[in-house]
Amino acid sequence: MLGHFGFECLPHQLVNRSIQQGFSFNILCVGETGIGKSTLIDTLFNTTLKDKKSSHFYSNVGLKIQTYELQESNVQLKLTVVKTVGYGDQINKEASYQPIVEYVDAQFEAYLQEELKIKRSFIDYHDSRIHVCLYFISPTGHSLKSLDLLTMKNIDNKVNIIPLIAKADAISKNDLQKFKCKIMSELVSNGIQIYQFPTDDETTAQVNASMNGQLPFAVVGSRDEVKVGKRTVRGRQYPWGVLQVENENHCDFVKLRDMLFCINMEDLKEQTHIQHYEHYRCCKLEKMGFTDVGPDNKLLSFQEIYEDKRQKFCDQRQREEEELKQKFMQRVKDKETAFKESEKELQEKFEHLKRVQQEEIMKLEEKRRQLEEEIIDFYKMKTVSETLQTPVCINIKKEKDRPFLCKTDIPDLCRSVFISRSYKRLISILWFFLFFLFVTFFI
Ligand code: GTP
Ligand code: MG
Repeated sequence: MLGHFGFECLPHQLVNRSIQQGFSFNILCVGETGIGKSTLIDTLFNTTLKDKKSSHFYSNVGLKIQTYELQESNVQLKLTVVKTVGYGDQINKEASYQPIVEYVDAQFEAYLQEELKIKRSFIDYHDSRIHVCLYFISPTGHSLKSLDLLTMKNIDNKVNIIPLIAKADAISKNDLQKFKCKIMSELVSNGIQIYQFPTDDETTAQVNASMNGQLPFAVVGSRDEVKVGKRTVRGRQYPWGVLQVENENHCDFVKLRDMLFCINMEDLKEQTHIQHYEHYRCCKLEKMGFTDVGPDNKLLSFQEIYEDKRQKFCDQRQREEEELKQKFMQRVKDKETAFKESEKELQEKFEHLKRVQQEEIMKLEEKRRQLEEEIIDFYKMKTVSETLQTPVCINIKKEKDRPFLCKTDIPDLCRSVFISRSYKRLISILWFFLFFLFVTFFI
């Protein structure tokens, strides 16, 4: 009767499915150039991931994104490491956090867009949302820099921040404890939320609570393997001894690794989804006008909101159409008036030109009339001169009968006028000479 149903195997099914699908984890490393980001990542994954050193002369902060496929036993891990480049190197560091915020938001946006698609493909979708931000603090032993506070303040509601004191071998044990307390008090006084290891699962509550009290972790990274007695360990060799990275008395590296991968990796991913992504999604949808409750605190369905928005959109479109029509009509009217005015101007110009042309015609007519009179005078004079003198050998015949002056006559006419004038002068001289002879004779 107390049969065996078999649903106790469900967790195994989940494990098998997860192993088949593989895991993904995205880490964001924020820290000054050369603070030990790449070395720590290599130490965490016990490998040497390809990376180049950054320059200190970038004018802006950038991000370097690298994805690696790692395998441990039969577990596949798609690891994405995003590191800051040129962080803390600018004179004006005010906008240093901006590229980080933009990148984190862009990953949320990509996920939201995938969620909103009609045909979603989450099985092969690469979720690039940042699961943890390792914030590297300089081992000054003093306090946090304003850049650290500003950046953490701007990203604390977007990512799970785990603060780390980098190159912790540069700071003595006593100073380290004081430095940790100082950092935590500064974070609290500035209202910066860092990731808290969860204490709601009783199997991990104790260790997580104790680790929460040891934040920020003081870490040391190394790619070197050093001989300590008969053992070969990962560490840093100094003239006075060896710092063993995995020795908990030397630094908090092991604590960080255990907290990150062995105990809280799933919680980090879950927090990213249910806290940070949810916050982004809410803000984004609210900005787009979506809400769960109406103005009278009545619950609204998606359908109702959609209908309401559609109605508002249609009204607005109609209003805009109406405005556009009005504007168009006004412009047509304006153009019409302008065209009428220019037509009137053209008409006036035309009338003026017509008047000028008529005046010109009249003047020409007048000139023609004068010329004809001159011709008549000329013929009269010619007749007189012919009667007085021997006919001049000019070949102008029957001109009197001709009604008008022809074009071909003009040279002859000119010659005739000239000759007629010469005759006149000659006759006047003759008369004068006769008169002179007469007077002389008389005297
Ligand atoms: P960029 O990518 O160029 O910004 O530098 P990074 O932050 O990745 O630093 P990287 O890991 O390249 O380390 C820079 C130097 O610091 C190297 O010479 C490392 O050996 C050294 N270094 C890294 N971690 C530690 C550490 O924990 N302690 C000490 N003393 N030196 C370290
Ligand atoms: Mg590096």
